[in-house]
Amino acid sequence: TTIFVITPTYARLVQKAELTRLSQTFLHVPQLHWIVVEDSPQKTPLVTDLLKKSGLVYTHLHVPTAKDHKLQEGDPSWLKPRGVQQRNEGLRWLREDRRAEAGGDNLQGVVYFADDDNTYSLQVFEEMRSTQRVSVWPVGLVGGMKYERPVVEGGKKVVRFHTGWRPNRPFPIDMASFAVSLKLVLANPEACFDGNAPMGLLESSFLQGLVTIDELEPKADNCTKVLVWHTRTEKPKMKREEALQAQGLGSDPALEV
Ligand code: UGA
Ligand code: MN
Repeated sequence: TTIFVITPTYARLVQKAELTRLSQTFLHVPQLHWIVVEDSPQKTPLVTDLLKKSGLVYTHLHVPTAKDHKLQEGDPSWLKPRGVQQRNEGLRWLREDRRAEAGGDNLQGVVYFADDDNTYSLQVFEEMRSTQRVSVWPVGLVGGMKYERPVVEGGKKVVRFHTGWRPNRPFPIDMASFAVSLKLVLANPEACFDGNAPMGLLESSFLQGLVTIDELEPKADNCTKVLVWHTRTEKPKMKREEALQAQGLGSDPALEV
């Protein structure tokens, strides 16, 4: 079973560091196909080059987030959902373009949405590989909590969710906490992420049409192990850089960071 990992990404100072860390994790995962979708009007040389040298099986896509959907300088990060059109573009590629490729009729596969700043253990990929429809597991350091997780009772059923915020959302889980079988993605060609979904309902907008809570397949020892963390990277300060630039002594812009 191939794991198709869809990663939205956008240009910023830490982008190469994020993608380097991610790609080097993925190198340790057998049968992984990385679908990298840039939030940009064109593919950038930085990402193109990084992917070429990565040693991974990958597909490089791009789609710019529509201007009225993009966060503006100074907006709080929760105001608009991020990476939405990019994940939908990844889904479109799986549903349309992949068919045209060699082996594109193979329906064996699992789809996972991996943001570029999270931290992924190798084990989480082995857990998701056996997904029949939709599998779920805990996520660490998310939602203002040590972890959020589906709560499993009576053997193998998810009965509720441990979360600090609006537990009555249809699926109160983070993007990093679930994987979907390729078969289910292809059988539901209209399922996608809704960029107009109210805050916290992005994951629900995709999952709602695909499964019910009692169909969820708990992984990671009945959702008792944290195998992925919603880490966020601090924005680097450029105070010294700017001071030096003002004197004409800034870092070489041709040197890629
Ligand atoms: C949380 C969730 O974990 C995300 O899956 C969800 O998309 C996001 O909230 C949301 O509400 O939209 P958070 O850490 O706040 O995550 O979001 P980011 O990591 O900043 O962005 C999620 C992904 O979108 C990342 O892979 C990032 O590179 C990408 N992104 C972000 C873009 O493609 N364009 C942007 O302008 C910003
Ligand atoms: Mn993030």
